Amino acid sequence: MKFHLLGLLGAVQLLGLVQAGNLVCYYDSASYLRKGLARQTPSDLDLALQFCTHLVYGYVGLNPQNFEVHSLNVDVDMFNFKDITMLRTRYPQLKVLLSVGGDHDVDEAHPNKYLDLLEANRTMQQNFIDSTMILVRRNGFDGLDLALQFPKNKPRKVHGTVGTYWKKFKKLFTGDYIVDPNAALHKESYSELAVNLRRAFQTANLMLTMTVLPNVNSTWYFDVAKLHSQFDFINLAAFDFLTPTRNPDEGDYSAPIKFLDEENRLPFLNVEYQIDYWLHNHCPPQKLNLGIASYGRAWKLTSGSGLSGLPVVPQTDGPASGGLQIASTDGLLSWPEICAKLATNNTAAYRGANAPLRKVTDLTQKYGNYALRPANEDGEHGFWVSYDDPDFAGIKAAYAKGRGLGGVAIYDLSYDDFRGLCTGQKYPIVRSVKYFIA
Ligand SMILES: *[C@@H]1O[C@H](CO)[C@@H](O)[C@H](O)[C@H]1NC(C)=O
Ligand SMILES: *[C@@H]1O[C@H](CO)[C@@H](O)[C@H](O)[C@H]1NC(C)=O
Ligand SMILES: *[C@@H]1O[C@H](CO)[C@@H](O)[C@H](O)[C@H]1NC(C)=O
Repeated sequence: MKFHLLGLLGAVQLLGLVQAGNLVCYYDSASYLRKGLARQTPSDLDLALQFCTHLVYGYVGLNPQNFEVHSLNVDVDMFNFKDITMLRTRYPQLKVLLSVGGDHDVDEAHPNKYLDLLEANRTMQQNFIDSTMILVRRNGFDGLDLALQFPKNKPRKVHGTVGTYWKKFKKLFTGDYIVDPNAALHKESYSELAVNLRRAFQTANLMLTMTVLPNVNSTWYFDVAKLHSQFDFINLAAFDFLTPTRNPDEGDYSAPIKFLDEENRLPFLNVEYQIDYWLHNHCPPQKLNLGIASYGRAWKLTSGSGLSGLPVVPQTDGPASGGLQIASTDGLLSWPEICAKLATNNTAAYRGANAPLRKVTDLTQKYGNYALRPANEDGEHGFWVSYDDPDFAGIKAAYAKGRGLGGVAIYDLSYDDFRGLCTGQKYPIVRSVKYFIA
């Protein structure tokens, strides 16, 4: 009896049914160039790599003339590519992938170059395929992650004074924009490119994965039924649904799990909708990894935003400046930057330049946490930040597991507390996620 049971367990394991989840960790090589405590070097990755199943090196860019991929920062990559792939000697279970695009390849002269790639003829697309293959093989990567930058959904518009006129017509302004009149063609070409890439990479025994970038609408660009078999896994970067740059006039949960059907929120701007879209179109759940951001998004509150902070927060004034370590103009704060601002007791001042933020924990575990400092009498120093702390990242990981997904992808290691500044523990978000998907 015992013997048979063990045999059965063995068979189940062989079929891959008993399997720890994927923990795909993104490494942004640009973090190497940051200053002070925010600077992350390959040796800072060590502690995370005992938890990650995959490390993804971001990012390389696309040459709009010949459609070859290239390093976006030769000085860093010429050493880092090898330093990172060499980490496998210490972590033999680790797969290391190279990612192209990822919203890091900003090219103002050619904003649509990734669509141009889809429209290019077969010869030009072969340049793309060959050049990715060369970079991957020459530097010892295990494969490629396609994080191509396609046009994003337009954010919904809000008007400062929510008069009855605008309220009545709000529907017209809430998402049904045509951002790409040729989306149907692009969708078809993306599938073809994926098939051709897969063929090349499979022959070379290399992995191929893809990422759906934030606010890139899968309905327009991704033919789920044709795509899922071309990729080893697909990461849904299901965050940044609302950001202070896209939505300067209203603050809201930037990466809720569920749809909170109030105040004209758009039904597709949440984790659940994005996962359901892929599942309903017959993507096997274990092919999907849920993307979680290790940073928060902060808005500046005005005196019109009120005191409660309850989202949707009205009359915000775009991104708050606040990160002490990571210079950013888009209201992005890493987890250690947020944690340093949170009040540790209830006696602290509530308003003013140096007042800490009051944390509001989402007890429903559906929408995410936020923290705030209302504006003072002069309308200054108001701050509202939406974020996934280690606890909420764990809740999301448990959600992904509960839905039967392959695992989680973390964006990215440099925004987690890799120095242990908050509590002394390094990489608390990675650890929390690992705990819940294990
Ligand atoms: C493919 O496109 C390139 C660039 O537009 C052009 O130079 C080349 O002639 C085309 N090749 C074919 C076979 O159509
Ligand atoms: C894409 O955008 C449209 C609105 O323009 C929306 O109805 C649809 O649900 C979106 N699809 C996804 C997957 O978010
Ligand atoms: C409470 O927090 C404030 C500001 O963070 C700090 O100055 C004060 O010493 C703290 N009080 C206690 C009792 O910890």
